[in-house]
Amino acid sequence: MGELLNLLPPGSTVAADGTLTIAGCRADELAEGFGTPAMIVDESALRRRAREYRIELAARWPSSRVVFASKAFPCTAVQRVMVQEGLGLDVAGGGEIRTALKAGVDPALLVLHGNAKGIDELTLAVRHGIGLVVVDGPDDVDRLEELVASGGNQDVLVRVVPGVTADVHAHVLTGHEGSKFGLAPPAAAELIARIERSDRLTMRGLHVHVGSQILDTAPFARSVAPVAALGAFDIYDLGGGLGARYSYADQPPTVAEYLDALVGAAREHLPAGAQVIIEPGRSMVASAAVTLYRVTTVKRGAHTFVAVDGGMGDNLEVALFGQRFEAGIANRLDPADPIGGTERVVVVGRHCESGDVLIDGVDLVAPRVGDLLVVPATGAYCFTMANNYNGSRRIPVVFADDGAARLVVRRETWEELSARDVE
Ligand SMILES: Cc1ncc(COP(=O)(O)O)c(C=O)c1O
Repeated sequence: MGELLNLLPPGSTVAADGTLTIAGCRADELAEGFGTPAMIVDESALRRRAREYRIELAARWPSSRVVFASKAFPCTAVQRVMVQEGLGLDVAGGGEIRTALKAGVDPALLVLHGNAKGIDELTLAVRHGIGLVVVDGPDDVDRLEELVASGGNQDVLVRVVPGVTADVHAHVLTGHEGSKFGLAPPAAAELIARIERSDRLTMRGLHVHVGSQILDTAPFARSVAPVAALGAFDIYDLGGGLGARYSYADQPPTVAEYLDALVGAAREHLPAGAQVIIEPGRSMVASAAVTLYRVTTVKRGAHTFVAVDGGMGDNLEVALFGQRFEAGIANRLDPADPIGGTERVVVVGRHCESGDVLIDGVDLVAPRVGDLLVVPATGAYCFTMANNYNGSRRIPVVFADDGAARLVVRRETWEELSARDVE
């Protein structure tokens, strides 16, 4: 029980009757009020993390900016929190540009990414005066030169493949040789020279991003030298990628430890006067949220399958790269009996795939139909990849703060499932 609380947003407690509370809100009342499955975000935890990143980076490298990687939780309310906390936003594509603008961001604080940006997305970026476009290859330069009016200007960074790997699943690695993102140093050097000759684009700096859910600081530090070797510029965007704590076994570096390593490498290799940008996504939001499910069936046989009313429709992280999650029975977290009667179970979803497994082996206390299951650390990339598999309606997002809960994204309606049908 104590272990589970350590994975939940700080300040989560257990009420006298064994019910989990998140940011002062009882899990049973949240489930009653908003239905299940539902994603519950501890708003203060989100804000604290944003501040921690901003303050810790500024303390180490004063000319710096934190931009939240919107893709990790591309919800207007979350982007708005980041903007209110003084962060910029990394946006990948036209959709994230639109929600970021709706969240009230100053377009000058946007950094646009994408390995396949369409002309429509670049048009939107240029029209709104987006601060930095991260050029992924020559096609981006062709399109920008066509779009930027004569006499106009667009500031750009060039994304470099540092040739660095990390001990993570191949599906979340991006900085290795052969990555589809960015350019290897020789090709980057050629493109930099071309941009420097352009009368419409300004070559402001370089970008690098090693991958995601990285639980070791060394790969971040290693990614700086290959970028520095391409020359001295105004800006170095060193990407995101710090891992979050999902399981009892995970011991991710703290933000301070991560920045010590990254800024240590920046001091060694980058010009002292340059601006450093970082783009945390997962580690910014994962731990601030949980998903509440209702247990729909319990089937005992070779395994005990505990099936819930969600699954890969609201959490694709398991299927995508085998991410390990933990869980607890949110209505029976008995503080007096933390280990009594546990049963090893497989938590599965409601979708028609054997791969629809939320947790392959977790100890639950006598799970039964109707229980509320809480899965911690679902704040990153779960909302992002939510889908309608088996006619699922995408789940709501609820902000909880100081005992009050408010809906920031409602559950999809049944009507919306066929709203795009034209016949
Ligand atoms: C360019 C870029 N920046 C930042 C991020 C955020 O990474 P993470 O969520 O692992 O911090 C990503 C995601 O992979 C990315 O592609």
